Amino acid sequence: MTNPSLLILPGDGIGPEVMAEVRKIIDWFGAKRGLVFDVSEDLVGGCAYDKHGTPLHDDTMAKAQDVDAVLLGAVGGPQYDNLDFSVKPERGLLRLRKEMDLFSNLRPAQCFDALSDFSSLKKDVVAGLDIMIVRELTSGVYFGEPRGIFKEGNERVGINTQRYTESEIARVARSAFDLAMKRGKKLCSMEKANVMESGILWREVVTEVGREYPEVELSHMYADAGAMQLTRWPKQFDVIVTDNLFGDLLSDLAAMLTGSLGMLPSASLGAPMANGRPKALYEPVHGSAPDIAGQGKANPIACILSFAMALRYSFDQGDDATRLEAAIEKVLADGLRTADLMGPEGGTPVSTSGMGDAIIAALDASL
Ligand code: IPM
Ligand code: MG
Repeated sequence: MTNPSLLILPGDGIGPEVMAEVRKIIDWFGAKRGLVFDVSEDLVGGCAYDKHGTPLHDDTMAKAQDVDAVLLGAVGGPQYDNLDFSVKPERGLLRLRKEMDLFSNLRPAQCFDALSDFSSLKKDVVAGLDIMIVRELTSGVYFGEPRGIFKEGNERVGINTQRYTESEIARVARSAFDLAMKRGKKLCSMEKANVMESGILWREVVTEVGREYPEVELSHMYADAGAMQLTRWPKQFDVIVTDNLFGDLLSDLAAMLTGSLGMLPSASLGAPMANGRPKALYEPVHGSAPDIAGQGKANPIACILSFAMALRYSFDQGDDATRLEAAIEKVLADGLRTADLMGPEGGTPVSTSGMGDAIIAALDASL
């Protein structure tokens, strides 16, 4: 049997340094748990533009289509701000999502006990929080046509189009219902059916799909009210399903409930491949943080947790995913803190690689 394959795309900014810690973890699972991966590495984002004049080379795209899972760090940086829109670092990421057809983006927002003081919200609002946002990732206003900046009379007009087909809504709804079945059997769908036809259709289709899942308690909320409820009492939610743009906003909001963007992973999943595994890309929710890049300040946990999601969703290694998550919980409970986690209550400051090493030590202790 051949080993499962991973394509690693560290990207820009802090991407390479957090990914270096993930490489240590991958090697640990190979050496200590017999989970050996064929790992290859390539460029995405600004670094790909610097080398090839494009944020994602066709060869890299082809490799991504070919592997069992892609792990991505982060893309972007101020030196690329003035590039033409078509070659901006973000276009590389969006091309991967679109061409791999990764329509279902899972963004868990989980509050680690050791960090419940760290949220900007009161401790009882966030302690024990464990919600999952399912964001539609390959359609909506991110990709809808027509789009562009056009001349209209003597002024310019910027146009983007929110567009959803029934099948696009149904497939992401189904993935959210499936997840809800494995969790607390509660799903809240968010749109703006009060102002947008695409929202009306969204609500109708989610309701129809819901008939296949009588055990799941389905509710609907306007996305603005959803944002308000997420800050008021986030624990009322289990799984949330929403479109591409609202999901972008709501997942950043949910992330910050947990105290730090540096903690949150994501999985972007598509249809099953011939081997039964879903097309998949795993990445931290945080960005490339160019202001702290290369200084050993970045928190590698979001990227490491993204690998844990890969173990769970691509490789059916739920127990090892849990082992890795528990190791992270342990180092946090021991008080180890990267700079982003250093609150008034203090802790033991560690660098990016110090955090990675501590997680390895906790994994060793778990054997
Ligand atoms: C995200 C990011 C991306 C998005 C950017 C980098 C294109 O904000 O993954 O949430 O808008 O989807
Ligand atoms: Mg975002």
